[in-house]
Amino acid sequence: MSTGGPVNLRDVGRLVADRLDAGPHGYFAGGAGDERTLADNEAAFSRRKLLPRVLVDVSDVTTATTVLGTEIALPVLVAPVALQRMAHPDGEPGMARAAAAAGTIMCMSTLATATAREVAAAAPDAPRWFQLYVLRDHGVTHALVDEAVACGYRALVVTVDAPRAGRRERDLRTGFAVPPGIDMPGITLAAGHSAGLTPADFFSLVDASLTWKDLERLVEAVHLPVLLKGIHSAADARLAIQHGAAGIVVSNHGGRQLDSVPAGIDLLEDVVQEVAGAVEVLVDGGVRRGTDVLVALALGARAVLVGRPLLWGLAWDGEDGARWILDALRTEIERDLTLLGAPSPAHVTRAHVV
Ligand code: GLV
Repeated sequence: MSTGGPVNLRDVGRLVADRLDAGPHGYFAGGAGDERTLADNEAAFSRRKLLPRVLVDVSDVTTATTVLGTEIALPVLVAPVALQRMAHPDGEPGMARAAAAAGTIMCMSTLATATAREVAAAAPDAPRWFQLYVLRDHGVTHALVDEAVACGYRALVVTVDAPRAGRRERDLRTGFAVPPGIDMPGITLAAGHSAGLTPADFFSLVDASLTWKDLERLVEAVHLPVLLKGIHSAADARLAIQHGAAGIVVSNHGGRQLDSVPAGIDLLEDVVQEVAGAVEVLVDGGVRRGTDVLVALALGARAVLVGRPLLWGLAWDGEDGARWILDALRTEIERDLTLLGAPSPAHVTRAHVV
């Protein structure tokens, strides 16, 4: 790293803010409404304090853990972020290579600018998950799921907080629409094209009539573990398990859907208590530091998903930039575990956070 370059995730975010066009930057960075939830996702981590234990042997610290039985080198997964070729031509294949190099799971979005097959081919030996929006066109939904299964994706992450787009006022101000030359193959399959569509347009393809019954049918049909992303309440966590979910992602969609909901980190503990170990619980939203990851682990998350910072990395330097972000996080987590007195993620307990 050269002197004057970024030293942390937020530095990279600042670096790329001027590089991206206003429309794409607003789409990636923005949240819904007054962006209260967007801001609170980060602020919530500041409200939590870590409580280290001392005189624990931390001469040999590992950041490795497992998620749904898959070994990962750090408790961080690549969140399903849309439209990655709009950040950099390396797009989702570059992100998949970065995830593979870092030893973690890439979760590809239905709104990706590459096919599931291309992303799989970019990092054939790495574990990958597929994020699914159940579309009104069930034929297209099945085609997307079939392709993910055929291409060796190990889990489906069904996003359940987006029956329509949140009110994203940055997009309204910039008049954001998918730029010419950028294609989302999954959306093109359903709508015939994707360039020129606004977020309201492409979210209008999502099946807003979806209920727990449909979810249960999907779980029975796919033969892959299904995680639900966008769970806020303990009551829905219970329903998720009753209807066959193999995991839960406590998430408010990066503050992009319903504004004024609590930060995921503030909802995590209730969900973890309700689930009582029946399935693994992950969380996303606002993770910018190794210490944020440790807070999430202490409150019961198996791992976290990171979205925007990886996108900033991609926008900054393509695959290498995304890799830089994951390396920086891993380095921070390793040091933070050492200073917390926890030789591995599995050693982080509720007693480590106040
Ligand atoms: C995609 O998931 C978005 O929030 O725009």
